[in-house]
This record gives sequence, structure tokens and C-alpha cells, in this order.
Amino acid sequence: MKSLGLCVAFTVLAVVHCAVPRAGEVPKVTLNSGGLMPLVGLGTWQVTDERKLEQALDAALEAGYRHIDTATIYYNEELIGKVLKRWLSEGKVKREDLFITTKLPVYAMRAADVPDLLNQSLSKLQLDYVDLYLIHMPFGVKREAYKGGSIVAIGPNGTDLTTDHLAIWDAMVAEKVAGRAKALGVSNFNETQIERIIKNSKVPPANLQVELHLFHQQKPLVEFCKKNGIAVTAFSSFGSPGSKWLIQLSGKELPDLFNITEVKEIANKHHKTAAQVLLRHIVQKGITVIPKSTNPSRVRENIEIFNFILDDEDVATLDSLDKGIDGKLFIMKNIGGSVNHPEYPWTILQNEPVA
Ligand SMILES: NC(=O)c1ccc[n+]([C@@H]2O[C@H](COP(=O)([O-])OP(=O)(O)OC[C@H]3O[C@@H](n4cnc5c(N)ncnc54)[C@H](OP(=O)(O)O)[C@@H]3O)[C@@H](O)[C@H]2O)c1
Repeated sequence: MKSLGLCVAFTVLAVVHCAVPRAGEVPKVTLNSGGLMPLVGLGTWQVTDERKLEQALDAALEAGYRHIDTATIYYNEELIGKVLKRWLSEGKVKREDLFITTKLPVYAMRAADVPDLLNQSLSKLQLDYVDLYLIHMPFGVKREAYKGGSIVAIGPNGTDLTTDHLAIWDAMVAEKVAGRAKALGVSNFNETQIERIIKNSKVPPANLQVELHLFHQQKPLVEFCKKNGIAVTAFSSFGSPGSKWLIQLSGKELPDLFNITEVKEIANKHHKTAAQVLLRHIVQKGITVIPKSTNPSRVRENIEIFNFILDDEDVATLDSLDKGIDGKLFIMKNIGGSVNHPEYPWTILQNEPVA
């Protein structure tokens, strides 16, 4: 893989420095905790089929991916651990070259649950530490409400209204101090929630993982993170085409970002695919992407985004397609009662008459 126009182009997240990559390597952002996060990782949500996941991980590692994004509630940490163990024991990759992220689940949003849940993840992943441990959601549900193993099945009385971010964060910091998590971060948090942690802890979040794509570019939140030295990771950067079932539960339509005229024109101009343009538009701003694919050729396609540069006109065109809050797909009201939780992060959407 040829790298071209890397750090120069990453101007938005000025505080998050781009480490200069070796030839063929994916560029990395330097986290405020000191670690290096590869700008492209493999997303693994909704992949629990052993054969598909193994094939995707092998294709990814062979193509140069070193960053893998998982979560307790993706139910695939064990399979990922198995593949990583094979690559590590065969000497094909070194642990220090990997960047593994997992997340504290919504049903364990209590300080006392943090060590147990992280230990469970580490044991499944067969690792001594994760590179990044994120709080998956700002709101919490009762552990017993999660019986069915499905977030969608949680009823309105299942929410745990006692969620205390600062207590949870302190417990996360203890894990960092103990070396079980190299960096800490949050996911789906809003500015106020992140600011509260920054103001009350000596350890600021190193990363925010949020929905971010062409129609929901998160410009103010990205700017806020830039000011505070927090690296941003975009999830669902293709608009999550595999999540039609979930997005419809929220009363939303799934956009087809691959078929937007402007995206296709820019892709033709650079002899690239629409998917590559969508990802490049994001990484060129210094924001990490974690596209999910179990198709080996698409896995390879999604990392081949460092051998072209979008020019100012391309960027302006793509920037102008942002729909702001109207472009948001995941409002997570399907998690029963989340909208009435004091830490529901998107209060502007609270009164929308959708599921
Ligand atoms: N923190 C959170 O709350 C949160 C929420 C959502 C997602 N995430 C993370 O972010 C990752 C990515 O988000 P996502 O899974 O929602 O969706 P996504 O990456 O936006 O889209 C994945 C879908 O796009 C297809 N695809 C992948 N590459 C393609 C290509 N080059 N051309 C055409 N289609 C392509 C995939 O199909 P194939 O597999 O068939 O290629 C899959 O259906 C997740 O897997 C997860 O790790 C985090």
C-alpha cells in the first residue's frame, strides 16, 4: 500500500498528531495517553459467524489492518481472540503492533462492574491488555433487564437511572493504572458529558467513538474534541447499510451513501470507489474509521485509501452534503427507556415521535 499526502492533509484534529508511517503502514494518530491509533480499523459489529469473522480478520491482517474494534455486546471477542492468538503465536504480528478496542456494555454501567467486565473481555480476547477501553453508551440498563442478551428486548423499566459517569470513569482509570487498558475513551457521549469528565478527572478521554458519515459529519463535536486533544473515531461511516432492521426501528430511512451523485463523480475522478471516497473524506480530517466488512475484497478496498488525496473542491462538495442532526441514524430509542434516562445524549431528539 502506497502512502501519500498523509499528515499534511490531517488538519482538523490539529492537537491529535499524525505519526509518520513507515512505507506500507496505515498512518496513526497519537492519543493524548501516548499510544498510537491506526487511522483505519476493522469494525466487527453484527459479525458472530465464526467462518466469516475468521476470514475477515485474516484478510484484514494480511492487508495491513492492525486495529480491530469490538465490544462486549458484539459477542465476538472470543473468536477475535482465537484469530489473534494464531497470528501472534505464528509470529506474523507482534502484540505491540496491534490496536485492540473493546467496550464496557450498557448493562454494566456501574463502577463496581468495570473490573469484572474488562477481565471478561481480556480473557475472551486472550490478551493482557486492550489498547483502548471505551464506555459504550452514556446511559445504563439494569443488568437483570439484559437477560435475553438483546438490547432491543429491554423494556422501558429496564433502564438504570443511577448511572454515575465520574464513578465509572474513576474505575476505568484504575484499570489504566493497572495496565489492563492502555487508553480510555467514551462512545456516544455528548459534549457536556465529555466536559464533565475532563473537568473532574486527571485522565481525560483519549478517544470519542461516534456515528459520523457524509450525512452526519459531527462538525461541532469534532471541533470540541480537537480543542480538547481527544481523537475521534467514526462509526458507521458508510451509514451502516447492514443495519436496516435497526435503523427502521428508529423510524429512519437508511441512506445509500454509495450512490450519491457527488460521491460517485469524485470517485470516478480519482479512479476510486464510492466507499473509498467516503472513508478518505473522513480520514483526511484526522478522524479514524472502522468500516465493517466480512467480504475479503471489500476489507482490502477499505484500507486502500492512502494513495490519493481529495482536493479542496472535493472536500467542499462532500462537506456541503452534511445534514447535521437530521442525518443522524442511530438514536437508540430502541433500548427501552433510554430516552428518559438522565444521560440520554441527544436531547434534541428526545421528543421525536419515533420508536
Ligand atoms: N460505538 C458504537 O455505538 C457503535 C455503533 C455502530 C458501529 N460501531 C462500530 O463501527 C463499525 C462500523 O459501523 P457499522 O458496522 O455500523 O457500518 P458501516 O461500516 O458503515 O457499514 C458496514 C456495511 O457496509 C458494507 N460494506 C463494507 N465495505 C463496503 C464496500 N467497500 N463497498 C460496499 N459495501 C461495503 C458491509 O457489508 P459486507 O460485510 O458484506 O462487506 C456492511 O453491510 C461497527 O462494525 C462497529 O465496530 C460502533
